[in-house]
Amino acid sequence: MTEVRGRIPTLEDLGDVTGRRVLVRTDFNVPLDDSSGVTRVVDDFRIRAALPTFSWLMERGAEVVCASHLGRPKGAPDARYSMEPVRDRLAELAPDVSLLENLRFHAGEEGNDPAFVAELIDGVDFYVNDAFGASHRPHASIVGPPATLPSAMGRLLQSEVDVLLGLRNKPKRPFVAVLGGAKISDKLGVVEALLEVVDSLVIGGAMCFTFFAAQGKPIGGSLWEPDMVDTCRSILASAGDKLVLPDDIVGVDAEGQFATFGTRLPDGAKGFDIGPGSAAAFSDVVMDARMVFWNGPMGMFEDERFAGGTRTLAEAMAETKAFTVVGGGDSAAALAQFRLDDEVDHVSTGGGASLELLELGDLPGLAALRGAPNA
Ligand code: 3PG
Repeated sequence: MTEVRGRIPTLEDLGDVTGRRVLVRTDFNVPLDDSSGVTRVVDDFRIRAALPTFSWLMERGAEVVCASHLGRPKGAPDARYSMEPVRDRLAELAPDVSLLENLRFHAGEEGNDPAFVAELIDGVDFYVNDAFGASHRPHASIVGPPATLPSAMGRLLQSEVDVLLGLRNKPKRPFVAVLGGAKISDKLGVVEALLEVVDSLVIGGAMCFTFFAAQGKPIGGSLWEPDMVDTCRSILASAGDKLVLPDDIVGVDAEGQFATFGTRLPDGAKGFDIGPGSAAAFSDVVMDARMVFWNGPMGMFEDERFAGGTRTLAEAMAETKAFTVVGGGDSAAALAQFRLDDEVDHVSTGGGASLELLELGDLPGLAALRGAPNA
């Protein structure tokens, strides 16, 4: 039993599942590629991550039906978001598990419509939430079934919650968070929450330019958020030494040529990655830590010229003796690109969900499970 503001039932709390129908909510929102003419799953990490829950249920004789969203269709069927390619991959990994069509083909999913919940649980005996990456969404398939059905968290959800709440509630020090990505506005809540618990908060990615602007530095034509400058100024004032910003930047000059800068970028220059000095300094912080959480790339790593910062950080994550956790999305994709995904302690399947759990210590999907009749 995992304690998160109360009791969340686990698979063991379901009782006898033999011959019973179990609806498992999974997050199979996976990247697809159709360049060969056939649409295929290009990264099956989220599908493989659900297998321990499927095995547990199947070994006990349950009939397993799973359901997921894929992409952001607008509440109606849309062939581009069909689950068919996911079903093909699932059939190779777990042939006896069936998969419903995209939940977001129904307007009732995002609207949490009781009639859609009733449709979903018709003929179902138990509900399992193993969709960590979607548990921050108060959608029908996440919060509806546990209101009436005996329910449980699957093995994946359980391990995500244990790891991420472990960071938040029982940090080993020094505890370091490294945040990157384009926008500080997307991460403001988690920045403020992390500053309460971390020893160092390292900021890379384009979001550093809004901090530079708040320090009164010229940032050339780099990406920034003018309406977040005041917020960054107050974060800088309250965070003091805890906040670590880059001290060099790699990008292009006004002529579009590759260039390295300090922290003041000339007119027309654009920063696309942290510089080698910053990458080395950030790595030192990671090497000296006992716990590290990383979310968001340090630069535009898809372009080899601007992959250096993210690669150096990923290597430090792989090398450090610290307990290392990588938030999902782009940072997980970067680790995979550098073939270092097996070298960290935990790669989360959730992007937004991992940030929201760190920020708030809870998620709508967890709260719903806590209210299940068997909780
Ligand atoms: C994700 O990929 O982060 C989850 O599947 C959630 O998807 P969403 O942001 O479309 O709700």
